[in-house]
Amino acid sequence: MKRDELPVHDIPALSGNNAPVHQEDSFNALEVIGQVPRDLNGLYVRNGPNAYYPPDWRYHAYDGDGMLHAVRFERGQVSYRNRWIQTAALREEQAAGHALWKGLKEPMRADRPDEPLKNTSNTDVKYHAGRLISMWYRSGMPYAVDPYTLETAGPADFDGAISRISAHSRPDEHTGELLFFDYALTPPYMQYGVVGPDRKLRHKIDIDLPAPGLPHDMAITEHYTILHDFPLRPDPEALTAGRYKVRFNPDQPSRFGIVPRYGQAHEVRWFEAAPTYLLHVVNAWEEGDEVVMVGTPYRTYRDADGRIDATRLEQTIHLRQRDFELHEWRFNLRTGQTTERTLDDVLNTEFPVINSAFQGRRNRWSYHVLFPQGGREEPRFPGLVKYDLETGGYVAYSAGPQYFYNEPGFAPRDGATAEDDGYLVMLVWNPKDQRSEVQVFDARGARLAEGPVARVLLPRRVPHGFHATFVSEATLQRWK
Ligand SMILES: [Fe+2]
Repeated sequence: MKRDELPVHDIPALSGNNAPVHQEDSFNALEVIGQVPRDLNGLYVRNGPNAYYPPDWRYHAYDGDGMLHAVRFERGQVSYRNRWIQTAALREEQAAGHALWKGLKEPMRADRPDEPLKNTSNTDVKYHAGRLISMWYRSGMPYAVDPYTLETAGPADFDGAISRISAHSRPDEHTGELLFFDYALTPPYMQYGVVGPDRKLRHKIDIDLPAPGLPHDMAITEHYTILHDFPLRPDPEALTAGRYKVRFNPDQPSRFGIVPRYGQAHEVRWFEAAPTYLLHVVNAWEEGDEVVMVGTPYRTYRDADGRIDATRLEQTIHLRQRDFELHEWRFNLRTGQTTERTLDDVLNTEFPVINSAFQGRRNRWSYHVLFPQGGREEPRFPGLVKYDLETGGYVAYSAGPQYFYNEPGFAPRDGATAEDDGYLVMLVWNPKDQRSEVQVFDARGARLAEGPVARVLLPRRVPHGFHATFVSEATLQRWK
């Protein structure tokens, strides 16, 4: 694709490589620069917004219908396919022949109090019990998708037991469970539960919160779940007027609810920490009396009196600017106290990914997308970082200013023997050749800095997107 063919639109979220693609394709035996390792086997899948109907409203970058892009690695061969997630909302619109919902910048749909916002399922994708599960960041019905064909099987309602979960609900590959949370603007403001490997609901409790929040992620350890309640909340007055606006309350603490995996509502223990807002967890684990959680919260700026600049944080979040640090919280189950520390405030990174076999266990390596410092200009995602969580040290790679790296997946090498024994795979926009690529990095040691070991050339553009997952061949085969 040549530069002058890139879509130009007066709305940045619909322009350049943000613009939707209109084809559902399948490409096999893709051309490769370098060598795709033969011990890299499995499926990388990435979700993202891709508007089905041309938006005739004030478009927000989160509005587009969810589309999955899947890259299959089989003994050195690589194939690609993409499909829209057939959500109930999209089907309703397809039946009508035009869009029925408008986006986040427009008033909510008044004639549909049950679904005032369109559940696009465009945010996150995970693998649970033989199916891909797509999820939406505002909470809604998740969808089950065939990992091989990307055909939508239907709502993942687990025999009617579930109607909503949030993006970043987490499968535990050690047990085959899916641990989920849901949050809402009306009570109960949060719910938490567990689905078994048999796709049956095993546990569900209401989480008692003082007010609705905007939790984006959760964390799990071997025995506990950590639920998030940050002082970033929807403005109640705006809500009454049918609008959605978030306010940061710098005088309120961040709160973390730790509950045994199958604990009841009264067993949730709340730990307080410095006010902040966190999108994504790196990992959490148990260490003696402590539950440890690492994540990439927004940087908070304080005035001379030590007060957090709430307006600046609200603007950073509202304008989707990128300004993050790497942070660790320790919750002492014996004393009830929280201790916390910044592991790194030099680099600006997000979209943390680990070797999923280490989720809930103490781990050392975390892989992130790298942004320019401050991150206040147009989105630039030019590279990757491998962090050492024990020391705060890192190895970084930047391909060049206009490259755009999507969230990677960590692919364990066949027969892997160490946590970082594997590859990082991700979709990349290559601005030099005006082309989408799948890049493969060797994750071991400091090899990330040497750049990709393989670049798989895609015959068609893949728009920038949100979250991704990697499903190993062993996991795929286990559920086949
Ligand atoms: Fe997210």
